[in-house]
Amino acid sequence: MTSPSSDNPLTTLQALGSLITTSITALEAVYASHSTPFPSLDTPWQPHPLEKDQQVAQASAVIMSAAYQLIASVGTPIAHLSNTHGAGAYVVAALRYVVEGSVADVLKEGGGEGMHVDEIARKMKSPPADNSPRVLRFLATRHVFREITPNVFANNRTSSALCKAKSLKEIHEVPAKQYDGLTAASLVGHVADEGFLSATHLSSWLQAPQTTAGPSPFTAAHQVNDVWKWYEELGNEMRRSRFTGVMKSFDDGAWTEELFTGAIDWASYPENATVVDVGGSLGIVTLLLARKFPHLKYVVQDLPKVIEVDAKKFWNHKHPEFVENGKVVLQPHDFFTPNPIKQADVYFLRNITHDWATPLAASILKHLRDAAKPTTKLILFDFIMPYACKDPNATDAGLGAPWPLLANFGLPLGGTLTFADMHMMNMFGAQERTVGEFAELGALSGWKVENIVRGLGGAYGATVYTSA
Ligand SMILES: C[S@@+](CC[C@H](N)C(=O)[O-])C[C@H]1O[C@@H](n2cnc3c(N)ncnc32)[C@H](O)[C@@H]1O
Repeated sequence: MTSPSSDNPLTTLQALGSLITTSITALEAVYASHSTPFPSLDTPWQPHPLEKDQQVAQASAVIMSAAYQLIASVGTPIAHLSNTHGAGAYVVAALRYVVEGSVADVLKEGGGEGMHVDEIARKMKSPPADNSPRVLRFLATRHVFREITPNVFANNRTSSALCKAKSLKEIHEVPAKQYDGLTAASLVGHVADEGFLSATHLSSWLQAPQTTAGPSPFTAAHQVNDVWKWYEELGNEMRRSRFTGVMKSFDDGAWTEELFTGAIDWASYPENATVVDVGGSLGIVTLLLARKFPHLKYVVQDLPKVIEVDAKKFWNHKHPEFVENGKVVLQPHDFFTPNPIKQADVYFLRNITHDWATPLAASILKHLRDAAKPTTKLILFDFIMPYACKDPNATDAGLGAPWPLLANFGLPLGGTLTFADMHMMNMFGAQERTVGEFAELGALSGWKVENIVRGLGGAYGATVYTSA
């Protein structure tokens, strides 16, 4: 392959094509070695352990990234803009319609052979007007659903992931709980509903002084000051439980245990050295650490209700020995106030700082700095946002995307992270952070980055700080 310095666009196309071919061969080899057929786009999704195989994940990421870059390269700019971005609004609107109408569930309960649109309409709770085949065809053209014969649709791999965990009967009987059970329908429903409404305010929010427009596009769109209070309002029960599900599903897949147990040399700390899980919720990371490093003492802090109700229930029922022998202490604490645990050996926060705009995140960390001793370490477990280009100040190899892919791997990785980042801005005026932004956050609060430990795939990691 010609060198990365080549500026011949056709060479770039050839390189993208060749990355795709090589990666398909790699996929073929892995599936063959497990005597497993590669799943078809035309059939419903059956989650399979091979999807999490590292080689499969790597080859799939290269293919997706290269294919998307090819699409952008070979079409006219107008075609690219209209297909991906112009149509984007309608993709979201159409997805909202099919999720709210439980169309994927209707097709699933119909047996999967394909269903005429009239029949689909009959089985939906509020039968739509004649327009629904146009929405389904719009989505089928984008590989969500399949039009088998004219006006007859079936689930494909993508649309089947929109099925809810409840039966159609349960969905129709108790709509407020239809999203319970953690499926992609929650994320799609949430983003396409209150997320999309808020996104229409994003541009004006960015251009207006944030003090007048509220802390986020969401608050501007919904005319409230506090996202959480809005979710508590009467009538928003379904949205609240759906959003809780979305947050939980985001929390579940991004890391492996080794990232937490390997972030620092926990074993080298003396007996009863103190580790504080700040904003720890149930204390899931604390549990991982306490099992592996029982010589340390742990404190899980969160808001009073979370500690008194959820965390106590979790530990008392499932792991009472840790609380009984005093290894784990559950402590109500508001992290915007001085920390009651002074001179801890380690304070760590998982998925906290990305919920807050920089001045507020810095205020949380400043309280920890005030409580710390000179040897205290602070660890932030969070996504580490890559640039779409090479980072000239990078101290490690980054994500290792092959030329000519974007340095953040484009759509499959950078796409997901920038989506998460935009959504944090949209909902909370908050953000994911680059390596440089983690350093700035430290500088604002009296901490200096000592080390960055990346988890599997490189996009999620631990930023380890010591006192500045
Ligand atoms: C995204 S969750 C992360 C929970 C936990 N660190 C984890 O990774 O499982 C954010 C947590 O911050 C807590 N939180 C929000 N505001 C807080 C505050 N002012 N003081 C302490 N905890 C707070 C929430 O209750 C919630 O448990």
